[in-house]
Amino acid sequence: MTPSDSILSHRTVLLGVTGSVAAIRVPALIQLLVARGASVVVVRTRHARHFLSDAEIDAVAASTDCSRVRRYDDVHEWEQWRALGDPVLHIELRRQADVFLVAPLSANTLAKLANGLADNLITCTARAWDWQRRPVWLAPAMNTAMYEHPFTAEHLQRLMRLGARVLPPVHKRLACGDEGVGAMPSPEAIVTGMEEGLRAMTTMVAGPRPAHPSAPLYPTPLTPAAIDRFADPPALPATARAPDAAPHSPPSL
Ligand SMILES: Cc1cc2nc3c(=O)[nH]c(=O)nc-3n(C[C@H](O)[C@H](O)[C@H](O)COP(=O)(O)O)c2cc1C
Repeated sequence: MTPSDSILSHRTVLLGVTGSVAAIRVPALIQLLVARGASVVVVRTRHARHFLSDAEIDAVAASTDCSRVRRYDDVHEWEQWRALGDPVLHIELRRQADVFLVAPLSANTLAKLANGLADNLITCTARAWDWQRRPVWLAPAMNTAMYEHPFTAEHLQRLMRLGARVLPPVHKRLACGDEGVGAMPSPEAIVTGMEEGLRAMTTMVAGPRPAHPSAPLYPTPLTPAAIDRFADPPALPATARAPDAAPHSPPSL
């Protein structure tokens, strides 16, 4: 696929990175998004910085296209604001980005998003985000026991009701040594999943016409009916499934 074929081409992806060990795979994810023609704004939580350093982001920017990779942390939000009239970063990001992808999404940030907390740059941006007009993609990544905890299903369902799409975690040996569901899908699977989902969702919301880069991906707001109509394979742990739903089958990579 050439960059211009991708629905992500000329789009700005806000990439929220949280404190999961899967953050070590984010440089490969940035590289792929840039290869698809997207610009990437990386926002890390404090804990994400343990797994993904400034230097690693700068290195991937230098090896792809520096003008299309930016990074921010909570400190920038506060450094940028000195007096009334100065830009407020989480509002600027809300305006600039076309798509919000949180990958990896930790259990902690998932809980915050689902409950409307706004205590860092990622959660403030999500709280200001226009969920009905701008796509949100979530890639939860955590230990199997955390993923299968009933809160995970409850929180994901709450965000899906706002229009968020979930890239389900996969089954494999996890960083902690356990084996089970909870690993972030590969960067390739994330990007392909987003592209397929965005194409389908955009067509459903806007009709089958080419999405011009300057047009919003959701030109008309997502309605609850549109969200319901967009049936997907179950993305949630067993506890979240309806009793008659098909068994959870993680995507093969
Ligand atoms: C080595 C290590 C690996 C971790 N991996 C995960 C993980 O994969 N998923 C997760 O939800 N939490 C994980 N945690 C716990 C989170 O980092 C912790 O809940 C943190 O508060 C998340 O903060 P954040 O959501 O603001 O990034 C890990 C912690 C450590 C020390």
